[in-house]
Amino acid sequence: MPSSPPYTKDILLSNQLLAWFDANGRTLPWRSKPCAPYPVVVSEFMLQQTTVASVIPYFQRFMERFPTVQSLSESPLDDVYHLWQGLGYYSRAKNLHRTAQIVAREGCGVWPSTALGLKELPGIGPYAAAAIASIAFDEPVAVLDGNVRRVLSRLFLVDMNEKGALSQLRELAQSITPAQRAGDYAGAIMDLGAMICRPKNPLCEECPWKEACGAYATGAQALYPSPKIKIAQPLREAFVFVLTDRQGRIFVRQRPESGLLGHLWELPHSGFERNDAQFDTAALPPGISWEETDMTIKHTFTHFKLSLHVMKGLLSTNASPWPEGKWVLPAHLKDLAFPTVMQKVLLKL
Ligand code: ADE
Repeated sequence: MPSSPPYTKDILLSNQLLAWFDANGRTLPWRSKPCAPYPVVVSEFMLQQTTVASVIPYFQRFMERFPTVQSLSESPLDDVYHLWQGLGYYSRAKNLHRTAQIVAREGCGVWPSTALGLKELPGIGPYAAAAIASIAFDEPVAVLDGNVRRVLSRLFLVDMNEKGALSQLRELAQSITPAQRAGDYAGAIMDLGAMICRPKNPLCEECPWKEACGAYATGAQALYPSPKIKIAQPLREAFVFVLTDRQGRIFVRQRPESGLLGHLWELPHSGFERNDAQFDTAALPPGISWEETDMTIKHTFTHFKLSLHVMKGLLSTNASPWPEGKWVLPAHLKDLAFPTVMQKVLLKL
């Protein structure tokens, strides 16, 4: 049999996937036709490190509040943080706001239409640039996130522990990205990873790439990509201080701009960087009667797990306990953006 030109198999693969996508692709709120770049950009910011299911309600609220890049660029950053509350990775909110300002003011509302141009904007890395360029502008650039890596490493039997595996996968990903319908193809390979080629119990019998898949042929699905080495997350303990004044107001403060949970509001606490199983109230400002409660909030951050013990205090003087911060009536706490860990504390009060 004469050997086929190399592109034939690639085109066959992309056609098979696109046909599957046309029949089975997910209906997602940012997948409109014709495709508008702004909703795609918002969704890709939100989808970094976050699941589709968690993003959907945030995306819908965000688009209602900021329907255009112009409206987002003109809104105070605090309003953006407020809508981002609970979604995590808050630097994304700041970068999205900044990006909207650049596009609205310097670009007259026109988005760069290539991955190369998009990468110049704050918060848009190589993956998001490829996703936006392909989905919003049909640029045939390959998207390669964790899901796509899993799909392709199984399809082509690429051992991700091997040196150079990632660049090999990048080349393969690019070679099967079609010149036409690149946006649909990007959505299709993401959907295949989420719905069929799942990390555990993949639904291989329903897969459009079943015949071509190396892992399916050898029954080696569980071996690709490579088994992840799980690093145990350290456990930390800390104390959070719910301090009330005689008017029933609660003391809150704002976190520094940069770093973990930057710019968000919080209740004062003993610090999340250390592990404090005990706390000496003598280290706290004077004039407060403290009561240790049996409330402990559990929260998982990316790199550690936290047990946060709640302490309640009543301030009997008029002096401000800490230089930074303000007193807020409980009914007004909802106007400030708190990270999830602090919302868990506030819900217990
Ligand atoms: N993950 C990242 N981007 C995505 C998208 N546009 N659709 C579905 N899942 C995604």
